[in-house]
Amino acid sequence: MFKIVNREEMAEGTVVLNEIEAPLISRKAKPGQFVILKVNETGERIPLTMADTDPEKGTITIIYMVVGKSTALFKALKVGEGYQDVIGPLGTPTHLEKVGKVVCVGGGTGVAVLHPITRALKGVGNEVICIIGARTRDLLILEDQMKAASHDLRVCTDDGSYGHHGFVTDVLKEILEEGGVKLVVAIGPVPMMKFVSKMTRDYNVKTMVSLNPIMIDGTGMCGGCRVSVGGKTKFACVDGPEFDGHQVDYDELMARLQAYAEEEKESYDEHCALTQ
Ligand SMILES: Cc1cc2nc3c(=O)[nH]c(=O)nc-3n(C[C@H](O)[C@H](O)[C@H](O)COP(=O)(O)OP(=O)(O)OC[C@H]3O[C@@H](n4cnc5c(N)ncnc54)[C@H](O)[C@@H]3O)c2cc1C
Ligand code: FES
Repeated sequence: MFKIVNREEMAEGTVVLNEIEAPLISRKAKPGQFVILKVNETGERIPLTMADTDPEKGTITIIYMVVGKSTALFKALKVGEGYQDVIGPLGTPTHLEKVGKVVCVGGGTGVAVLHPITRALKGVGNEVICIIGARTRDLLILEDQMKAASHDLRVCTDDGSYGHHGFVTDVLKEILEEGGVKLVVAIGPVPMMKFVSKMTRDYNVKTMVSLNPIMIDGTGMCGGCRVSVGGKTKFACVDGPEFDGHQVDYDELMARLQAYAEEEKESYDEHCALTQ
């Protein structure tokens, strides 16, 4: 068993942090990589990015939004309980290079995925501006951590309850207008990554996104995670999850993410009825 040693709830309980004992994974993991977890013998294989690692303590941290049956089962786990299986580190680590001025854009739980990448980009000597957004102030996560991981943090809320009233793309546009941006990293809901990439293409700024297609084995064998990038088929679990944002077919990705929506809803409703 992979024991949970710390647990926190954020964003009104819709997002949960678990710090898990996984010494071998924590020693090998690099920014941008993910793990696949199973709650029990019959559990689904769920991919989640490592939001942090502590090789000295031998732990990894995951932060997930509760969206369906498996993440609801994860949420029910208490400190001292744990996951039956945690496999990783998986995926290609983030390419880290000193390029100059970098803008990191995160939305929703994408902020958790963005956190170790932002810290690492600052660590190799880049000037990092971070823009994070949420629908409303109470749903914002990791504000203090993102402030520490970057040189300048800008916050946006859709309803104007905190920070800039509007979308992350409004603030990104202002920064792009100032000039000098060498790289944009965007991680969040697929429409957000699509619109950021559309905008940065107009400014000719290289853009990296992290994709979240449905994954099963996570090792390049099943083909479940295939995405189209630059007209070629790629497996996000081994070729990614990070790709050139200007080359991704976002509409296909969105359609594929919805492929099992009916079955997922049925399974979640059944789970909710049993646990009420
Ligand atoms: C590489 C990668 C890293 C991710 N990192 C994070 C993270 O750090 N935090 C976070 O909140 N979420 C992350 N996700 C998304 C997370 O895996 C899904 O939210 C989760 O699988 C939903 O499972 P469920 O049973 O609770 O929901 P379901 O009701 O089964 O599904 C809800 C939605 O989640 C997606 N989904 C379902 N099953 C899978 C699967 N096996 N693989 C991928 N997506 C699936 C589909 O879009 C689906 O419509 C990541 C996904 C990938 C591929
Ligand atoms: S998840 Fe099976 S090939 Fe990527």
